[in-house]
Amino acid sequence: CRSWRAAVSTFPSVHTFSFPPLHLKPDGPYVHPHSGPIKPIPLSNCKWQLSDPSKKNLSLACSVPKNSPNKMHYLGCSYGYLIFSHKVHCLLVDVYTGSKVMPPKLPPNNDLGYFCGIGILTAPLISPNSCLLLFSRDSMFEWHVGTNSWSEHTLTLDYELIYQIVSFKGDIFVIDALLRLHAIHFRPQFHMQKIAIKKEFVPMNSWLVVCGDMLLMIDQRFSSGGLGGSSNAFFRVFRLNFSVEPAKWVKLEKLENYALFVSPDRRNPTFCCMSPERWGGKSNCIYFARLSEDPDETWTAVEFGQPVPDSAVRSMIFYDISSPPDSGVLSSLWVFPSLVYGSG
Ligand SMILES: *[C@@H]1O[C@H](CO)[C@@H](O)[C@H](O)[C@H]1NC(C)=O
Ligand SMILES: *[C@@H]1O[C@H](CO)[C@@H](O)[C@H](O)[C@H]1NC(C)=O
Repeated sequence: CRSWRAAVSTFPSVHTFSFPPLHLKPDGPYVHPHSGPIKPIPLSNCKWQLSDPSKKNLSLACSVPKNSPNKMHYLGCSYGYLIFSHKVHCLLVDVYTGSKVMPPKLPPNNDLGYFCGIGILTAPLISPNSCLLLFSRDSMFEWHVGTNSWSEHTLTLDYELIYQIVSFKGDIFVIDALLRLHAIHFRPQFHMQKIAIKKEFVPMNSWLVVCGDMLLMIDQRFSSGGLGGSSNAFFRVFRLNFSVEPAKWVKLEKLENYALFVSPDRRNPTFCCMSPERWGGKSNCIYFARLSEDPDETWTAVEFGQPVPDSAVRSMIFYDISSPPDSGVLSSLWVFPSLVYGSG
């Protein structure tokens, strides 16, 4: 709707959203990754519920549009679109309206899918310089939205998989399975630059979150709970200081008036939300989409510094950094619908 978009495009920058993202919950029972052989997702039956964490009883049922390919692998979610691929086919589905965009055919033998593929849009789909990037083990495929072909670039990551991609200050950063951070440059020609970071700790299970002009990393830790032998998990948050050489992860003591939104699957987007009290949320909290297998739980707010519930720790194991993503599973995630990105 044109007037909706016009109204919404006057909202402040996406990084300072003062309303929360929507929670997307796939229909059907909870499935953890690698619970069987990796099979593409049957799209005829791919449905989900969107709900607003500030209005718990409101939700919207959505599905993949008819006449879509039968089955596809899930590669990620970006600017309000789910990203799927299967062999040479690629599909973007707007999570809110259910409308689809079909990019041109991918090169054959692209090795996306199973546990290799991950994708991101570099800007809202509607903006003139938006590109869709899909990473396999050896290549990055780039589609400039609106054109009719893909370009392919060779990756130089010693065969490590890419675990998470974020767009930060106009650049694309990826984190690989060895938890090394790389910046991707497109000009003057494509290259990946490893960011030198002072090694003070080894992240265990981590997520990158862009928060305005800060690049944050949430790291999950375990502390042994003394004689009882019980162990607690908790989160630490670090901010990357780029102004020193090598760059350095600086531990934060609190999140001030921010709330972070994360889901266990790192192919899903992460968000930072300022002053969550405005919609009834809590500052200094990490909102995790579906931390546990409890069918009634859709998300959990973990106060920064507090232990993570035990049930959550168990289900998080399936998303451990040592297990590659499973492209046959669409899991709970946070998303801002494409319309909030306005007219680009
Ligand atoms: C949601 O709950 C609120 C308060 O409990 C109530 O006022 C409102 O009518 C409910 N909305 C729907 C759509 O059920
Ligand atoms: C980065 O580190 C330098 C040197 O320790 C310090 O002066 C600067 O304030 C730090 N910047 C941030 C954003 O933490």
